[in-house]
Amino acid sequence: RTIHLKDYTPFPWTIDGVDLTFALAPRGTRVTSRLRFRPNPEARPGPFFLHGEDLRLIEARIDGQPVSPRIALEGLTCDVPDGPFTWESVVEIDPEANTRLEGLYLSNGMYCTQCEAEGFRRITFYPDRPDVMAVFTTRIESDLPVLLSNGNPGERSEGVAIWHDPWPKPAYLFALVAGDLLAHRDRFTTMTGREVDLAVWVRPGDEGKCAWAMESLKASMRWDEETYGREYDLDVFNIVAVDDFNMGAMENKGLNIFNSSAVLASPETATDANYERIEAIVAHEYFHNWTGNRITCRDWFQLSLKEGLTVFRDAQFTGDLRGRGVKRIHDAAALRAGQFREDGGPLAHPVRPESFVEINNFYTMTVYEKGAEVIGMLKRLVGDEGYRRALDLYFARHDGQAATVEDWLQVFEDATGRDLSQFKLWYSQAGTPRLRVEERWEEGRYTLDLSQTVPPTPGQPTKAPMVIPVAVGLLNPNGDEVVPTTVLELTGERQSFAFDLPTRPIPSILRDFSAPVLLDRDAPEEEAAFLLAHDTDEFNRWEAAQTLARRAIRARLDGRNIDPAWAPALRAVLRDDTLSPAYRATILARPSQEETAQALHGAGLTPDPLAIFRAHEEVAEHLAHALADLLPGLHDQGQVPGPYSPDPDSVGRRSLGNAALMLLSRTDVGARARAQFAGAADMTQSVAALSALLLVDAGEAELQAFHDRWSGDRLVMDKWFALQASLARPEEAVATAERLTRHPAFVWTNPNRFRSVLGAFAGNLAGFHDPSGAGYRLLADWLLRLDGANPQFAARMSGAFSTWRRYDADRQALAEAELRRIQSAPGLSRDLSEMVARMLG
Ligand code: ARG
Ligand code: ZN
Repeated sequence: RTIHLKDYTPFPWTIDGVDLTFALAPRGTRVTSRLRFRPNPEARPGPFFLHGEDLRLIEARIDGQPVSPRIALEGLTCDVPDGPFTWESVVEIDPEANTRLEGLYLSNGMYCTQCEAEGFRRITFYPDRPDVMAVFTTRIESDLPVLLSNGNPGERSEGVAIWHDPWPKPAYLFALVAGDLLAHRDRFTTMTGREVDLAVWVRPGDEGKCAWAMESLKASMRWDEETYGREYDLDVFNIVAVDDFNMGAMENKGLNIFNSSAVLASPETATDANYERIEAIVAHEYFHNWTGNRITCRDWFQLSLKEGLTVFRDAQFTGDLRGRGVKRIHDAAALRAGQFREDGGPLAHPVRPESFVEINNFYTMTVYEKGAEVIGMLKRLVGDEGYRRALDLYFARHDGQAATVEDWLQVFEDATGRDLSQFKLWYSQAGTPRLRVEERWEEGRYTLDLSQTVPPTPGQPTKAPMVIPVAVGLLNPNGDEVVPTTVLELTGERQSFAFDLPTRPIPSILRDFSAPVLLDRDAPEEEAAFLLAHDTDEFNRWEAAQTLARRAIRARLDGRNIDPAWAPALRAVLRDDTLSPAYRATILARPSQEETAQALHGAGLTPDPLAIFRAHEEVAEHLAHALADLLPGLHDQGQVPGPYSPDPDSVGRRSLGNAALMLLSRTDVGARARAQFAGAADMTQSVAALSALLLVDAGEAELQAFHDRWSGDRLVMDKWFALQASLARPEEAVATAERLTRHPAFVWTNPNRFRSVLGAFAGNLAGFHDPSGAGYRLLADWLLRLDGANPQFAARMSGAFSTWRRYDADRQALAEAELRRIQSAPGLSRDLSEMVARMLG
């Protein structure tokens, strides 16, 4: 059944209070619920329907009198009084049998919940929709030592804990945790002087890996006060790490539940990238307290209202802490590799989708990352002051409400006076706009001719022009900036912007990646090298390096030689000590193989994954030789003395050193990498060394040593699996992935472990697209098995197939056959069948 945005109607009742009692037992947990309903004055009367799935109803009462509701597959209906009434029910659920990791489940002996988006209906009968907000009181009965739920703690006695959450919330923010856990504790004093008890809860053995998450939490709380004026609103804030978790983390009110990979860190076991990810996810979930919890979504079509905004906020936070330029570069690269891919294929959908079968299939890069880009554009258009006024108004006007994208845009209109009706198309039109730029020069007058096209996407054959903020700067041929960054607002299909200037300038277009668009421009050959040397915009300077790298890759694909001027142009930047090491590391990075495949497809060609792999290898070899004298020095700069610290400078130095190491191993047959591996005191240095070895098909002994040292650490073993699956040479990749799935530690029911083998393999472009079709078959076999246990995660992993139409007829036929085999499997989940149907188109 398809759900449509246009069919929204409010729930006919409101809830004055929710009382839940959990009598925990692995195979039969009893959930008693008391809900005080009152007719909703803002809704039309309708049938009394409560969601409920896989629940065993034991008894139901209305105002104390037993009733016999009609139970259907997705919930129940019941005759109810005209006025207010109290509904009571007792259900039994089976947490141990819950392999879907939705609702209440067990992970390594610990009870935990995941309710977003629609998991609460697997706990008890309830109007499980985000516009029904209520105050919850939760009683937990269990002999386990730690019993947690949302809000503030109430009475605690032998075997019983009571929690009360004073803030009305939708059911998707409910959480419960029970287990034998240890706390890493701290305190935070809010801007008005209130004391908050903070804790990160983990299983015994992991208590030494919580300090970084705690530091990140305190930094987030302070930042949200300083930047958005947002103060925390409960006496406690708890974070719990769980090993079996479908996504990264969840912002349940006062009780955030995290995938352990997004919490646990120690220098020996976590890389710099892990530290940064933990910092960003802790911040993201914390920021949801205001953008998501205090103001939530009216319905799931509005998901980007909370997710796009919260991703935007966490990106600002990371930029403030770690440098804006480098953060922007990382985000743009990720957007291109992931979201542009989604937007350009069968899974394309608007930031605010108009229909879905399974909402979990719409927790996508489009809703999250493109949604964040839309907010970035809005901020650029109204300015920092306008943005702040609009956000203040948003919090003042909608606190305690379930809001919509219309409400969001209205606060910007009211706070800034700007008409956003055309801008709103960013929420409804899918597809990556193509921005074409041409230039003209007549004596004294420089003109940029901008035009846009938005490609057709599934269900949207034609599009209207969007509002595209194009940040532009102009440089003189001597390198001086003659026009600093100016935002040109493209609103029509084509528009011209003229500048009066004495000499013809060199343009720097789409600075700071000011819009999530594909830039289409026939620039003069020498422009990129010029911008690489002179641009004042960090993003576009990096983009110039990317342009040169793309050209080198393209040359090798076409059998031409790489421009000998490329490496010298990079060299000048790499040696510039006024630039941070972190920034210089990005200059050394090349576009991903996925990006190359996308670009070829976009140019009307058929990408050959194997040829792409080889071209990327040749380009790396070329750089390794051409920069051979420089790389050892860069690698040396990456050796940071003293104890490990994830501060931005140390991380930046290591990233430059290790970017150099990836190239060095191609000329020194792994000598430096081997030495680094042997001497590594932290995981950043060991993983980088191991990767550098695997890239050149060496490192067997090191892999074994790594395995033997870390076989007892789940998160480190995930790395061991992922490195091999993602770096295996094309001709060995399928066999490698297959072999890894037979390893005794391959526990496929654990999402992190499944992802570390099959997700990493699917990201190995030439490996997954092996011409035999064996890669497609391997993934399809595992998706079918996974679907029986965890449909949501199976659906998520199936996205690897979404690019199948890009490739040659033989590969298309092989991939299509696997998709059809999945489609026709008996008992296929709603989740996976929706994905497969969309991918088959
Ligand atoms: N709201 C969470 C976050 O982005 C994501 C949880 C989504 N979970 C899911 N099963 N769809 O922080
Ligand atoms: Zn989120």
